[in-house]
Amino acid sequence: MCGIVGYVGPRDATPIILNGLKRLEYRGYDSAGVAVINGDQIEVRRDAGKLSQLIDHVSKSPLKGAPGIGHTRWATHGAPSARNAHPHVGNSGKIVVVHNGIVENFLELKEELTSEGMTFNSETDTETIVQLAEHIKAGGSSLEDAARKTFNQIEGANVVVLMSTDEPDKIVTARIGNAGGVVIGLGDNENFIASDIPAILEHTRKVIFLESRQMAIVTRDSVRVETLDGREVKPEIHTIAWDAVSAEKGEYRHFMQKEIHEQVRALTDTLAGRVDFQEGRIRLPELNLTPQIAKRIKRIYITACGTAAYAGMVGKYLIEKIARVPVEVVIASEFRYSDPIIDKNTVVLAISQSGETADTLAAMEEGRRKGAIIWSIVNAIGSQAMRVADGYISMQTGPEVGVASTKAFTAPLADQYMLAILLADLRGTLDEETRKSLVADLRLVPDLAGRVLDTDAEIEKVAQVLKDIQHCLYLGRGINMPIAYEGALKLKEISYIHAEGYPAGEMKHGPIALIDEQMPVLCIAPKDPWHEKMISQIQQAKARGGIVIAIATEGDELIKDMVDHILWVPQAPWMLSPIITVLPLQLLAYHIAAIRGLDVDQPRNLAKSVTVE
Ligand code: AGP
Repeated sequence: MCGIVGYVGPRDATPIILNGLKRLEYRGYDSAGVAVINGDQIEVRRDAGKLSQLIDHVSKSPLKGAPGIGHTRWATHGAPSARNAHPHVGNSGKIVVVHNGIVENFLELKEELTSEGMTFNSETDTETIVQLAEHIKAGGSSLEDAARKTFNQIEGANVVVLMSTDEPDKIVTARIGNAGGVVIGLGDNENFIASDIPAILEHTRKVIFLESRQMAIVTRDSVRVETLDGREVKPEIHTIAWDAVSAEKGEYRHFMQKEIHEQVRALTDTLAGRVDFQEGRIRLPELNLTPQIAKRIKRIYITACGTAAYAGMVGKYLIEKIARVPVEVVIASEFRYSDPIIDKNTVVLAISQSGETADTLAAMEEGRRKGAIIWSIVNAIGSQAMRVADGYISMQTGPEVGVASTKAFTAPLADQYMLAILLADLRGTLDEETRKSLVADLRLVPDLAGRVLDTDAEIEKVAQVLKDIQHCLYLGRGINMPIAYEGALKLKEISYIHAEGYPAGEMKHGPIALIDEQMPVLCIAPKDPWHEKMISQIQQAKARGGIVIAIATEGDELIKDMVDHILWVPQAPWMLSPIITVLPLQLLAYHIAAIRGLDVDQPRNLAKSVTVE
């Protein structure tokens, strides 16, 4: 989750690093720091708290120099404090490190080094890295040799960035396992290192992504990539299409608000180049799906975390309905320890916005270990979940910065709809008329989404009424049941209100005891095959004095007369309705949190990408 920025080149590194860290604040942090090499000195400033405190510190006590490295920390070992903040300098003052991940064997390394007379100044696992590197370098190694030996001794998933006053023309970095990415930005007589693209996008769009167990030696005019056992590799250079502005807020108050309203564009982009409306066909070339593979697939596991898992729950309905292939959705943190029944005809489909979620990557590895076909639906270009898969679908929504996922929820719904059609088409189980009709329905989606987003002002009014609630139940059925879970998650993670999603049919088996005038109930009741069932659900809730808010299809006067508040959505083909019914819930959660004055984009305790277990 930590943010990392590095710079090597002729310019002063400090402002480049601080601006880059600002663009990574969403990754979660409780302290921050920056280090530069100035002559034969390593200068460091670091502070607990928000990045603004470090920026204030630096303005009062400037530091200039290059190369430089900076870090925003989300504590795993050692409380959030200046003492534990990165960067950490070795005892000799010659090497400095920033790090993301967990050194799982840091205690034994620390004991070994302490027994050899090394002293430690923090409780962090990170400090072990730099003390070990210094200890090895003191034996006469170059920085890169000392770094390589260090990288091969630390265990666990880690990203490490080191630099030294002895060799002030370079930065050495490594990616070991799934602790977040390493992006190397290629400039003109200068190069950049970051944990995520937005940090360096204003300087360059040409980037290299390190694979797991790779290291890079970066100078101002060269980047050499090697495996940890010293074999040089030729890295692929990617060009990032987004511009720096699209990673900024524009005229919106929060990234989340911007990203909710970007969904017309995001849905258009995720369809772009993949839907042949003329022929009524779907093309997903990066999935590498052939008729032979399609025909032998017997079962699909969809595995993900949080919002991505709820997207997978909708995908189950779509793939089973359209492609008639059995689908099981398993939360990634459970999947990896559940000894799943897998053979070569099983697909493990991971859904991940960041493509770096540790539990999801581990679930993919479990699938790989058991011989499954591995697919992923990912937003972050070049992320691990994209690179380790046999085939992938890129969400193509552009950067999602708000911690609460919105456009990276609706895009995979469309992606799984397309996947289901392609799979059925290649298996020969979809007649041409049905296929063309299903494909034609996709054309409606961006416009239907836009019509819901245009009701933002009405939704804000309902948010004003609900802003002081302490609890809320979200009920849905069928393909909209996962939208109850997702709507509840949106509310709880940004407004800190206790909210629970439930299959509506389950209410009579206990939870209905909760309903009274203090327990508002939000019913997702569009005109889909479960509409009638939801009507009786609403009646049951009203009969117990509950306040009922309904998501209902425009013109549904029956529901309008039954409930306290209504959030209208346009009629949509039922298999695409979750893309539409989730939008009012995103906006409702957003407005309640904004009205409550909360940190919508960086909710407490949360980080955008959970790269630790
Ligand atoms: C969703 O709003 C949350 N931020 C969280 O549940 C998130 O969906 C989950 O951590 C998975 O992240 P990923 O899509 O990057 O793997």
